Amino acid sequence: MAFLKKLTLFAAFASLAAALPHGVRPTATVTLTPVIATTTTATSTSTTATAAATSTSTGTSTSSSSSSTSSGINIINNLNQTVYLWSTSDTSSDMQTLTSGGGTYTEQWRTNSDGGGISIKMSTTTSESSVLQFEYTESDGTLWWDLSSINLDSDSEFISSGFAVSTDDSSCSNASCAAGDTDCSDSYQQPDDVDTRSCSSSAAFTMTIG
Ligand SMILES: *[C@@H]1O[C@H](CO)[C@@H](O)[C@H](O)[C@H]1NC(C)=O
Ligand SMILES: *[C@@H]1O[C@H](CO)[C@@H](O)[C@H](O)[C@H]1NC(C)=O
Repeated sequence: MAFLKKLTLFAAFASLAAALPHGVRPTATVTLTPVIATTTTATSTSTTATAAATSTSTGTSTSSSSSSTSSGINIINNLNQTVYLWSTSDTSSDMQTLTSGGGTYTEQWRTNSDGGGISIKMSTTTSESSVLQFEYTESDGTLWWDLSSINLDSDSEFISSGFAVSTDDSSCSNASCAAGDTDCSDSYQQPDDVDTRSCSSSAAFTMTIG
């Protein structure tokens, strides 16, 4: 699975960090702090609607100004139907709703307290049985990411309408799956596919559906 690969990658990073001189290590410690913050945010969202602390990550459907916020991703639903979304770490967030014809969801990169990656799962129904996933792991200024169609049914509206991810950093590669491409090479189709991408985590990512 893509996630296993990332865990391996993550482990490689962890041992690399461990090998670094002490002067460098505080960075790793600092990066860990937001983990607790975001996790708290995630859990508290169910009761408190306003996750004041860490801004947009829980902001729903229409955050009008398609802000080119760095250090995160803005997902735009251009489909003719509602898209439902869950941002999943060791726990799943509340279901988000992206209205048809331009509804958006913005997430600032966050870390997973169990050391794994984050998966933003998207579905055209309120069930997570058929999902397109944007998976990522942020580590020391680098964002490792991929798209996965592994758990996506072949008759999905996502496939018939196409989807794409781009960044504002010209040194980073984009991913694009044309409408109707059921075997798109820019998205994982098989668990053993190897094409995880990397980019500076300060780049602004945009994902368009449809
Ligand atoms: C979008 O949905 C409306 C209402 O269901 C329908 O009339 C229209 O043909 C749809 N457009 C596309 C491009 O699917
Ligand atoms: C990625 O897509 C964006 C937006 O379409 C474009 O500006 C940029 O040049 C593309 N980057 C690459 C490496 O093709």
